Amino acid sequence: KEIVVSGIRSTGYLHLGNYFGAIQNYVRMQEEHNCYFFVADYHSLTTHPKPEDLKQNVYRVVAENVASGLDPEKVALYAQSDIPEIPELYLMLNMLAYMGELEKVPTFKEKVRMQPDNVNAGLLTYPVLMAADILIHKAVKVPVGKDQEQHLEMARNFAHRFNTRYGTDLFPEPQVYRFNNDTVKIMSLDGNGKMSKSENVNATIYLSDDDDTIRKKIMKAKTDQGPTEPNMEMPDYIRNLFVLMDVSSAPETTATFKAAYNNCNIRYGDMKKQLAEDMAAFVRPIRERAAELQKDEAAIKKILKEGAEKARASSATTIAEARKLIGINYY
Ligand code: TYM
Repeated sequence: KEIVVSGIRSTGYLHLGNYFGAIQNYVRMQEEHNCYFFVADYHSLTTHPKPEDLKQNVYRVVAENVASGLDPEKVALYAQSDIPEIPELYLMLNMLAYMGELEKVPTFKEKVRMQPDNVNAGLLTYPVLMAADILIHKAVKVPVGKDQEQHLEMARNFAHRFNTRYGTDLFPEPQVYRFNNDTVKIMSLDGNGKMSKSENVNATIYLSDDDDTIRKKIMKAKTDQGPTEPNMEMPDYIRNLFVLMDVSSAPETTATFKAAYNNCNIRYGDMKKQLAEDMAAFVRPIRERAAELQKDEAAIKKILKEGAEKARASSATTIAEARKLIGINYY
């Protein structure tokens, strides 16, 4: 079975971007692959979360993954911080990662712009930790959204560099997993960039949003006067609504609205009403299951503990090999 790794930061409530960019593919892959899915709690420390919030955030990510259909019996579902081999490999890879390339990473430059008073070293080396997460299990496929593609390219570079330096083929070069040849980017409903956990909460649909909240948010989604000529190319905020419709509405419904768009007689109000109902129906069972699960802390702890055991077994082998290759075997 092919080895698969992916992670989600514990920085807040999960949203449709996380679901369609990542979790949906986790669920698709869990039967046929050897999957390691984790909560990236170390990565979330770059923003200095309150200690009392961290645990609930981690529990919520676990609950929302399981509520979305991930089966902890079939995959290893664990917290990054439970695997000490990850920071060890991170340290090794840091020696092969260069300041210049790290400073050039778009997500890093973005952070420098957005939070100039907290440009910590963890942000700079974020892609190195991410590479360690992946390489520790020798993963070949990584299901992620479009925003993570650049990080994956860096992980491949670090893998290649390690292999070349130490004359080994220890690390495969991990590839982004694409379902139907596609990587997903769900946009914010206000049309400004990607949907994200913290940016504009009114333009982000969370898996924990109730029906009315979902309706309100979708009804406020950005639209315009409509197409002015047949078969016009869609602006990206309209295409985004169709993407959301594709995944939540019946195919005939989506087809009807697409045809209306192409004939220039689409009514965005009607489309949004339909999408709002279908999306509410889509999110409802996930929200309800997650809320139920989150009440059962014992069950979540058990998932994390068993997940960590599986992940540590695989990590221990890799780190022993890496140490040996580097020359760390003194007695
Ligand atoms: P994070 O926590 O920001 O997001 C988790 C997953 O959700 C995807 N995603 C999206 N996909 C499409 N459209 C969006 N608007 C959208 N927003 C988020 C992300 O692409 C991601 O797949 N660095 C990672 C976490 C991580 C990781 C790893 C991932 C740490 N180590 C190793 C894979 C492998 C992150 O911050 O994801």
